[in-house]
Amino acid sequence: MVWDSWRAERGPLALVCAAILAANPDNSQPWLFRITERGGQVCIDLFADLRRNLKAIDPYQRNVHIGLGCALENLLLAAGANSYATDITLAPDAADVTHVARIDLAPAGVVAPDLYWAIPQRHMNRAGYDTNRPLGEDMLAEIQALNQDDPDARLFWFTTAGDRRCIGDLIVEATEATIHDTEQAADIVRWSRMSWQDVQQHKDGITLDTSGVTGPTLAVAKMLPTFTPEQSNQAWLKNTRETHVATAATFCILAVRDKSAPVQQLRAGRLLQRVHLWSTAHGLALHVMHQMPDRAGREESLGIEPRFGHALRDLIGNPAWQALSMFRMGYPTVEALRSPRLPVEQVLIS
Ligand SMILES: Cc1cc2nc3c(=O)[nH]c(=O)nc-3n(C[C@H](O)[C@H](O)[C@H](O)COP(=O)(O)O)c2cc1C
Repeated sequence: MVWDSWRAERGPLALVCAAILAANPDNSQPWLFRITERGGQVCIDLFADLRRNLKAIDPYQRNVHIGLGCALENLLLAAGANSYATDITLAPDAADVTHVARIDLAPAGVVAPDLYWAIPQRHMNRAGYDTNRPLGEDMLAEIQALNQDDPDARLFWFTTAGDRRCIGDLIVEATEATIHDTEQAADIVRWSRMSWQDVQQHKDGITLDTSGVTGPTLAVAKMLPTFTPEQSNQAWLKNTRETHVATAATFCILAVRDKSAPVQQLRAGRLLQRVHLWSTAHGLALHVMHQMPDRAGREESLGIEPRFGHALRDLIGNPAWQALSMFRMGYPTVEALRSPRLPVEQVLIS
């Protein structure tokens, strides 16, 4: 399992092992890597695997690119820890939109910051958070400072009780809208792996272990026959309302200047991963919750009234910024579990 063996590899493969441990949409793992070593020059090319996209949930592949940005961040942290300096080119081939990054490697000294060591500890935490522990202003300021070099990305925080209630209600409403949208609901179910056999076969998707169900309920759920899609949807809605939004210490919208620009999506993904690694290293829990941005994308693709598009715009309150991603944070009440990964050989191409 790459969660345990990720540091056993040497050379550029070690960087790919770190990359595939990143957050990514619905654990679809929409990435492919090509390692080239020629005449002493080492290079890793990162590609989007669009066969593994989320269809109606992500009609413009924004989530795919955010996930690839998350992978890129891990890869670059691992480069430093494995004695490589990097030279990154985003979108290096105008003729191939799936070719999202080229990373040229050169020998250098070892740089292994705390964020690197947090890579295998970082997991999406979908359980309840400690409602007695708010996030201090100093902590939020430190997270804000993680974005020092991307003028096109910005974090908007919603921490007061009033703001949290307002966003929580919108997220619940977006979850209901997703469930009632037959295509979107079906595309979520496609990545649901509720039985042990499914997990072993696919090594991807959302599993019972990572669903946020904990303790005896998890043990009982594992013994039950597989849920129907309707049961899964209702459980998701209930957890969203009663656990996810009810216990969030803060919500955050990750906004960019232009949410349609793949390069900005990639860089936003890097920032999202950095925030999650930092949170992990500081004992905080994080949960990406994309119901609102995903509904906004769906509204765009169907040309229907932009209920959530407008709600996100109003929450940001600044026309210079567009919402791309969203998450909640807080202090964990339970440890989050690992999600499955495809073996590294399956994501390498020649
Ligand atoms: C762009 C993007 C969108 C995501 N949307 C959601 C979401 O709406 N709800 C959710 O529970 N998790 C969401 N996630 C978290 C992924 O499901 C999670 O990263 C993936 O299952 C891998 O698990 P891990 O992060 O614990 O390694 C999202 C992640 C990314 C990068």
